[in-house]
Amino acid sequence: MGVLGRSAPQVRTRRRDTLVRQHRSFPRLFGSLLLVVAAGVSSVGAAPERVRPAPAHDVKARPLGQVVPAPARVRPGGSPYAITASTRIRVDASRADSREARRIGSYLAGLLRPSTGYALPVTEGHGDGGIRLRLGSSDRSLGEEGYRLESGRGGVTLTAREPAGLFHGVQTLRQLLPASVEERSRQRGPWTIAGGTITDTPRYAYRGAMLDVSRHFMTVSQVKLYIDQLALYKINKLHLHLSDDQGWRIAVDSWPRLAAYGGSTQVGGGPGGYYTKAQYRDLVSYAASRQLEVIPEIDLPGHTNAALASYAELNCDGVAPPLYTGTSVGFSSLCAGKEVTYDFVDDVVRELAALTPGKYLHIGGDEAHSTSHEDYVAFMDRAQAIVRKYGKTVVGWHQLTGATPVKGAVAQYWGYDETGADERLRVAAATKAGTRLVLSPADRVYLDMKYDRNTVLGQAWAGYTEVDRAYDWNPATYLADAGVAEDAVLGVEAPLWTETIVTSDQLESMAFPRLPGVAELGWSPAATHDWNTYKSRLAAQGPRMTALGIDYYRSPLVPWPAG
Ligand code: ACM
Repeated sequence: MGVLGRSAPQVRTRRRDTLVRQHRSFPRLFGSLLLVVAAGVSSVGAAPERVRPAPAHDVKARPLGQVVPAPARVRPGGSPYAITASTRIRVDASRADSREARRIGSYLAGLLRPSTGYALPVTEGHGDGGIRLRLGSSDRSLGEEGYRLESGRGGVTLTAREPAGLFHGVQTLRQLLPASVEERSRQRGPWTIAGGTITDTPRYAYRGAMLDVSRHFMTVSQVKLYIDQLALYKINKLHLHLSDDQGWRIAVDSWPRLAAYGGSTQVGGGPGGYYTKAQYRDLVSYAASRQLEVIPEIDLPGHTNAALASYAELNCDGVAPPLYTGTSVGFSSLCAGKEVTYDFVDDVVRELAALTPGKYLHIGGDEAHSTSHEDYVAFMDRAQAIVRKYGKTVVGWHQLTGATPVKGAVAQYWGYDETGADERLRVAAATKAGTRLVLSPADRVYLDMKYDRNTVLGQAWAGYTEVDRAYDWNPATYLADAGVAEDAVLGVEAPLWTETIVTSDQLESMAFPRLPGVAELGWSPAATHDWNTYKSRLAAQGPRMTALGIDYYRSPLVPWPAG
């Protein structure tokens, strides 16, 4: 399907709506005066905490629960809380992991300080009032990623069992504030959070986004920017597609030409690039600081032209092909019959596993059209054993179910409405034998699919995917007709292939606003699922994305606020 499907990209520049950034910066002194008046305090920084109730229309504009992804339980009520010049961020210091809580407190302060202009000191201790971050709750119902947010006249308290919960709670708190809080220059408040309680836990443990850094290389700062954007929507896995025909993007000490030569170009023939191990570790730790686990993918045994070009001995005929800068798929294969192939896989997986604190390692397995079925099965058997040997859980694209998935393997389903019954039944059979699924249906959540016929970037082989189509499906029942049970679904992932994507603006125009919808499918209870209410909550994200500089597609299906 992919060979036919992946048509030549249109590498023209997309004509995007020009986003009007709202830079409402004031001269410093004038701004401070306004802030003093707005906050109702006598002087910036030294005033005792006093609350100025927000105007009713302001609270109405941002009701508790006007958040993406929709929180599991929202109980509005009571007085709002207003962040003022004297607000402190208090971190509960009673546990060994208070360092994490403090780090999250500093992250929150870093988000709020530029726009509010407040000092927002992060302090330890149990004092009342202000923004309180409490870690180590004994409430088991919050799980590893859940949190409770209680907002009232005296303050806002976030409670969680684990750092991930606290971090996700911070994302909710952030979204309850006006969108202008995301600006990086001083803005007018008031910085009011509606009163009430949110208790929130995710529907799925796996909520992923994939970035193809092979077709077009993405720099460390581009990836970090995307990580920050993903974190806002509680995505917790970043799958990096690190190798493909057009480029090998991670340094491997035992096979240095993979990156040095195999990473030296990209689609269209640009300079490409790769991550040194130090850069990759930095990315992994940055992702961890945003509660995302990085899942590295080395695509095998197809999609390997960059490796085959780098080392002649990996080819069955011993001849290295040239580097490839086109966009066809299915023409390359490692040589399943050669022992050196498995030395190569062993070295690559060992080095990659050592760079990977997370549990998953993805070995691709898709579109191996130049590998015989027999070779494919034999190869995937050995490749999976190597992944297990280095202590990682195998992930593969769902073609892995055409071989023999090892115990505990995860298959990433990327079929679409036209995927044949045989293939769906084969995937379902694998789930009955214990394989779990991450769902990435190509005509729903492939972020490189065009929105409609006017979208210049992206591809259309799986059809056009407007924002409603990306959101309006149910992961639990998506493959039910083939016999996949609800509990076989580990979660969802939105891949972004980059044949036509070069810049962060282009990436954003394809990912947003579809990605928040996929994030909601992954996080929010099925009972909250409703396109009509979702589209209003999504619309409220428009000014927030604008303030963040996210170059999102202004889908006509979403009632974006005017202005
Ligand atoms: C894929 O889109 N070839 C996984």
